Amino acid sequence: MNDATRRTVLQGATGIAVAGSQTAQAATNPGTILITGSSRGIGLEFVKKYAEDGWTVIATARDPAKSEQLQALAKKHKNIRLETLDVSDVKAIDALAAKLKDTPIDVLLNNAGISGGADKQKVGSIDYSVFDDVMHTNVRGPIKMAEAFTPHVAASKQKKIVSISSTEGSLTLISPRPDVNSIFYRASKSALNMSMLNMAKALKDKNIIVTMQSPGFVQTDFVGGLRLPIMITAEQSVAMTMPIIAKLTMDDTGKYFRHTGDIAPW
Ligand SMILES: NC(=O)c1ccc[n+]([C@@H]2O[C@H](COP(=O)([O-])OP(=O)(O)OC[C@H]3O[C@@H](n4cnc5c(N)ncnc54)[C@H](OP(=O)(O)O)[C@@H]3O)[C@@H](O)[C@H]2O)c1
Repeated sequence: MNDATRRTVLQGATGIAVAGSQTAQAATNPGTILITGSSRGIGLEFVKKYAEDGWTVIATARDPAKSEQLQALAKKHKNIRLETLDVSDVKAIDALAAKLKDTPIDVLLNNAGISGGADKQKVGSIDYSVFDDVMHTNVRGPIKMAEAFTPHVAASKQKKIVSISSTEGSLTLISPRPDVNSIFYRASKSALNMSMLNMAKALKDKNIIVTMQSPGFVQTDFVGGLRLPIMITAEQSVAMTMPIIAKLTMDDTGKYFRHTGDIAPW
């Protein structure tokens, strides 16, 4: 899909105009992006679109060989490099950072995330081992990624660290849905936001831009079979998010964006 078509599809589907030309921007200034959680869902779509736009894409996944779609993309686009990475494994993050030590990374995209499942987070029967898994994946992982890859990002032209958060982590935007069985998922995204705000301050002197990004309510495995009118596809979410990432400047560091480009209150 070319850029004009992508904008038309999005405007039709969401009523929201998508400004700018991501393809044109990237074609004149391609970079290297590292994406976590590339096997499926939003991460896989980011891999596809950045690769189509000519970026060098380091697509990481817990088990790249298991994702047929990721394998097919890597076969089609020679600019995709596959790496194995479980973001809950701090030693594995260090090992990948060491392996890529001479590779500047323009955009570090912390996308990998888990919900933990509603049945594990009912107050009264919370499963604390799953709680730990969620915090390790959604909070410790992005913090460790940002820390381990700071030299790679600092050595790049664009110097951006973007973490996929959720409005479920916002104290004011929390979903009005009646279920309250997201206690540790919501806590993890609030913690992610605070961690990245702190990271933005810590990395300011290196001119690294650190932002949080809500993807919208997206039809992926993450939401199971749920289909609501307000939901968007991964293609729409990514097409709306890429121009936001492309336009980030140091003035944006520490900000939390919605997929619409508005600032999310949190
Ligand atoms: N979908 C939504 O409506 C929505 C809304 C707000 C925020 N988000 C956020 O968007 C991000 C992507 O979600 P999605 O909707 O694309 O979900 P998804 O379809 O369930 O995909 C999640 C991805 O994260 C990966 N992952 C999970 N644990 C990992 C780990 N320890 N190390 C590395 N990768 C891991 C999964 O890999 P495997 O294949 O190995 O499991 C998969 O690639 C998440 O951070 C999520 O919280 C989603």
